[in-house]
Amino acid sequence: MSDTVKVFFEGNTYEFPLIVGTEGEKAIDIQKMRQKTGLITYDPGFGNTGSCKSTITFMDGEKGILRYRGIPIEQLAEKASFKETAYLLINGMLPNQAEINRFSVLLNDHSLVHEDMQHFYQNFPRGSHPMGILSTMVNALRSFYPELKEVDEEINITVTRLLAKVRTMAAMSYKISRGHKVVYPRADLAYTANFLNMMFDSPVKPYIIDDDVVRALEVFWILHADHEQNCSTSAVRVVGSGRVNLYAAISAGISALWGPLHGGANQAVIEMLSQVHEKGIPLHRLIERAKDKKDPFRLMGFGHRVYKTYDPRAKIIKEWCHTLINKLNISDPLLDIAMELEEIAVRDDYFIENHLYPNVDFYSGIVLKAIGFPTSMFTVLFAIGRLPGWIAQWKESTDDPDWRISRPRQIYVGKPRSDYIPLEERD
Ligand code: SDX
Repeated sequence: MSDTVKVFFEGNTYEFPLIVGTEGEKAIDIQKMRQKTGLITYDPGFGNTGSCKSTITFMDGEKGILRYRGIPIEQLAEKASFKETAYLLINGMLPNQAEINRFSVLLNDHSLVHEDMQHFYQNFPRGSHPMGILSTMVNALRSFYPELKEVDEEINITVTRLLAKVRTMAAMSYKISRGHKVVYPRADLAYTANFLNMMFDSPVKPYIIDDDVVRALEVFWILHADHEQNCSTSAVRVVGSGRVNLYAAISAGISALWGPLHGGANQAVIEMLSQVHEKGIPLHRLIERAKDKKDPFRLMGFGHRVYKTYDPRAKIIKEWCHTLINKLNISDPLLDIAMELEEIAVRDDYFIENHLYPNVDFYSGIVLKAIGFPTSMFTVLFAIGRLPGWIAQWKESTDDPDWRISRPRQIYVGKPRSDYIPLEERD
């Protein structure tokens, strides 16, 4: 196989380097294309454009493969803790016992939030969406924790602070939004159990930690921990390329994740299924609307830019739906509706031809609902899970010798040159 790609244009032949990835993915390196040919490429949504070389996550959309640092998601979801997964993504290898112990101590040491931050929370209008609050408060962390002089220490402490505090900040936004007393992190609880306790413990009803509930949330976070150059990760990299501090770059990622086509889909799925349940909407009607090009309705939780087969994460989270609902002895009509909807959609020609299968969001909302989270918190939970991936990708970009400030070009299709018309001469 040649190590270059030839481009023929206006009678000339140009050669560009061919890049081949670990799993055989191929790319034409066009960094010098404009300089050599005057041409740029056009790729709205960057569906065919590699923004970087990365060693963190590998996805194969055709085969439904997802690996973090080479380890299959199925094995991590079965055997790893969320802390181990976060450490793996950020540091590139699974931690040994001493490393995971030190990581746990650091996460606990940094889990408190500056008391003055509560004033910010108190002044958000009631009913503010927790994603808007979280994005604002993460950005505000720089004001409370100024930059340290030593670069490596600044990065390591900032990374640990974010991982440790994001749970406390998320739980605070929930408690304060309900007018309840904030519950502080406890030194005797591990990462995930600590968060559940901060969310649901109250003086009138002490929260009982259930190991299956803890594991279900851990698996949810492991499944969401990273996903190559998705919309929110690209936002973190683009904003980070301006060399802003990590809090600001992560705040941009949270904002990007908020959208219903991205991280907001888990909330949108539950709202869609609830509508079906409450209004008795026939499922075939939903399928028809999803197929109608004149109708902007999308079947939430279906389809994916990369996966053209079943999202491997959806398979795992669907199993946890059943485990949790059986363990907690609850029945959820939305699960029954979701399973029936999947049955119909995966047999429909439109969905088959467009490779539209359930993605991770289709069933994750049912797990979160079974645990007791309000739908308004679902995307915040996605953000907590995705935080290690955002951090790992940001760190990789800052160490990347090829990395430059992000500044895409465009094709101008507006008006040709024209002169200014004084106000009095305009029609
Ligand atoms: C996440 O990038 C990531 O990795 C994201 C994520 C992560 O972990 O970070 O996996 C998390 O964001 C998952 C996706 C959550 N979003 C949703 O579930 C919202 C519903 N899904 C769609 O909006 C859509 O599938 C997207 C946004 C996810 C992908 O959009 P694309 O890239 O445009 O999909 P496509 O090119 O494969 O679509 C092919 C055709 C198109 O029709 P045509 O314009 O060619 O006629 O299928 C249509 C699409 O319009 N289509 C759908 C559909 N998804 C795509 N039609 C109806 N319902 C849908 N859900």
